[in-house]
Amino acid sequence: MIDLGLGGKRAVVSGAGLIPERAGHGRLTAVRLAEAGATVACIDLDAGRAEGTAEAIAGSGGKAIPIVADMTDSNEVERALDEAEAGLGGIDVCVDIIGKATWDQAQDTTDADWDWTLANNLNHVFYLFRGAGRRMVEQGTGGSMVALSSVDGITASAFHAPYGAAKAGVISLVRTFADELGHWGIRVNCVAPGNVGHGSQAQPAGQFDTNGINPLAAPRPMDIANAVLLFSSDLTERVTGQVLSVDGGATIHSLWDIRRETIPDYRQY
Ligand SMILES: NC(=O)c1ccc[n+]([C@@H]2O[C@H](COP(=O)([O-])OP(=O)(O)OC[C@H]3O[C@@H](n4cnc5c(N)ncnc54)[C@H](O)[C@@H]3O)[C@@H](O)[C@H]2O)c1
Repeated sequence: MIDLGLGGKRAVVSGAGLIPERAGHGRLTAVRLAEAGATVACIDLDAGRAEGTAEAIAGSGGKAIPIVADMTDSNEVERALDEAEAGLGGIDVCVDIIGKATWDQAQDTTDADWDWTLANNLNHVFYLFRGAGRRMVEQGTGGSMVALSSVDGITASAFHAPYGAAKAGVISLVRTFADELGHWGIRVNCVAPGNVGHGSQAQPAGQFDTNGINPLAAPRPMDIANAVLLFSSDLTERVTGQVLSVDGGATIHSLWDIRRETIPDYRQY
């Protein structure tokens, strides 16, 4: 048996609730951490969603506490971290799940949409990692922090410019926190999901179904949760400041649309 090193660890998941029509990364990540032996503080804006995830964990024999907070407000973040620290007895793992895009052409994007998107994708990562980082340094036992970026923070992001800029900002923040906190044994990494659609575990229809975007089958929510679990675990004890794209290969897909049946015969030139 491989030990992930998460038994008895104290984990915070920000955005731990489940909205059925969305991807569900928060719920699944919290559940996976609990399955690996961590006690999980499930933070969410919505009380029912925070409690729903905590109950799902308790229902399968794990340990969790719900915490309600709006993580776009730095005072609320500090209060939520205080509650998590008090409830868990410390913080070893800290995961930020929250994020959502607005859609428009860049030149039609309003100031309000820009500000909202930055607040809901980037600001909270800074508030959370700043607060958790301070607490982990004081605790003196190292730790792991993981944020969710997006492949849109790596490639261009047509029709959702603020989201792409914010998710690229998440990658930069992760690298800076990783550099500054490594001295205290605190690792900071980032998972960049490709499009997982609407949270269906069955997606795609067939095990190996691909499409014009994905050379491998598109990722499922559980693939994102497993990547967060990997970075949270001792298996990546010497990995920090990294971005793991979980995208079915979308970002390495050939630009030239060359297929097996149409490989050019270079010998004829
Ligand atoms: N769905 C995809 O295909 C995809 C692709 C790339 C990246 N992502 C990223 O994955 C992440 C998770 O996406 P999802 O669809 O599972 O999330 P989601 O929209 O379902 O949100 C997860 C939870 O966060 C909570 N939340 C939202 N705002 C909050 C706030 N201010 N304070 C506290 N809690 C808050 C929600 O109540 C919800 O329970 C996001 O960062 C998203 O940008 C998703």
